[in-house]
Amino acid sequence: MDIPTGIRRVPPPDLDSVASDPVLVERIRTEIEREGPLTFARFMELALYEPDHGYYRSPDARPGRGGDFLTAPEAHPIFGRALARHVADAWRACGGPPAFVIREHGAGSGALAVAILDGLAVEEPELYRAVRYRAVEVESSRLIELGERLAAAGHANRLEPDDGRPIVGLVIANEVLDALPTHRVEGDDGDVGLREVFVDWKDGAFVDAPGATSTAALAQRLTDEGVTLRPDQRAEICLAVDAWMAEAAAGLEHGVITLIDYGYPAAELYDAVRRPRGTLAAYLGHRAHEDPYRAVGRQDLTAHVDTTAVERAAAAVGLGHVASTTQSAFLAGLGVGELLVELQSGAEATLQRYLEARAALVRMIDPAAMGRFRVLAFARAVDPAATFRGLSRAPD
Ligand SMILES: C[S@@+](CC[C@H](N)C(=O)[O-])C[C@H]1O[C@@H](n2cnc3c(N)ncnc32)[C@H](O)[C@@H]1O
Repeated sequence: MDIPTGIRRVPPPDLDSVASDPVLVERIRTEIEREGPLTFARFMELALYEPDHGYYRSPDARPGRGGDFLTAPEAHPIFGRALARHVADAWRACGGPPAFVIREHGAGSGALAVAILDGLAVEEPELYRAVRYRAVEVESSRLIELGERLAAAGHANRLEPDDGRPIVGLVIANEVLDALPTHRVEGDDGDVGLREVFVDWKDGAFVDAPGATSTAALAQRLTDEGVTLRPDQRAEICLAVDAWMAEAAAGLEHGVITLIDYGYPAAELYDAVRRPRGTLAAYLGHRAHEDPYRAVGRQDLTAHVDTTAVERAAAAVGLGHVASTTQSAFLAGLGVGELLVELQSGAEATLQRYLEARAALVRMIDPAAMGRFRVLAFARAVDPAATFRGLSRAPD
């Protein structure tokens, strides 16, 4: 299995040290008893998003240093400081309007928001005054923490609720698409070419249960992408990406959507030699493993993003494709090296802080770690000649 490396590179965890959420297990078990085996997408939806019990619906810290993994914005503010430059490029591509909204999906507790606003305040004061920040979070209690964090950083007056009004601005999501519920399938030499891996309950535990596919959309997705799975090759198919993209693009009158996540174009993602067992991974206590049925509700579940599917979903809602690149090329284009030097020369600089920033940055750009994350940018009605520094370099 292709477990992402780098910030998420970790030894196998002691799976027995964390029990499943008993209320959640009972709810899922009851649903299986009532409806029969569930699609993996339904299981993942309950495991991550069930109110009060799903992994992302708990008030506990996740992600973050106390959580189960470290995302780039949580690892160091240099990531958000670089992204502030991308915000400035998007603003200029829209003609430098007097009001510009940053709408962040999956904003967590606000690490990225604070770093972007800090960067704009220092480098782009006119844009800083024009900016309003809208945070979209599946777990509303996290928005309270985000508000407090922005207020502590002096940015309270930049925050506005996401009331659904149309925006001119930049929509961003970092490490959100990988958490969308996904179906699991296996190649098959029958007519459909696929069987689905459902979730059943046997002898007091969740187990895989192969069966005929629950929807023709699964085989259709692979056909559209020109992909054929080998018999017994396992893979994930995230149908939810279409609805997610439609929602993210909704109300974007004019502006840019930038998505950052680990993933590959379909031909690479579904490569039978490199990824014969798919990419589903579970994260628990900063450790990665392969069993989605342990620590249910208390561990994260993720699968690599099919960037071809994201690009097709964006086209379907009328967005133009600006560029797709790697995180390492994106950050380099945004001048992250120069930002690191600046951090070294500021009044508050210490050797310790510099070394921390450098170590975090190395993981963000290392092609064997987060550097190979994908950055996908789409736009609606922006200047076609606009320059985006982060998208100007060839992906490495
Ligand atoms: C892996 S964390 C990333 C958080 C943050 N973007 C970062 O990079 O540190 C995923 C975040 O997205 C939120 N989330 C997941 N699915 C979501 C959805 N469909 N809509 C809004 N937020 C979502 C989760 O609650 C969580 O805060």
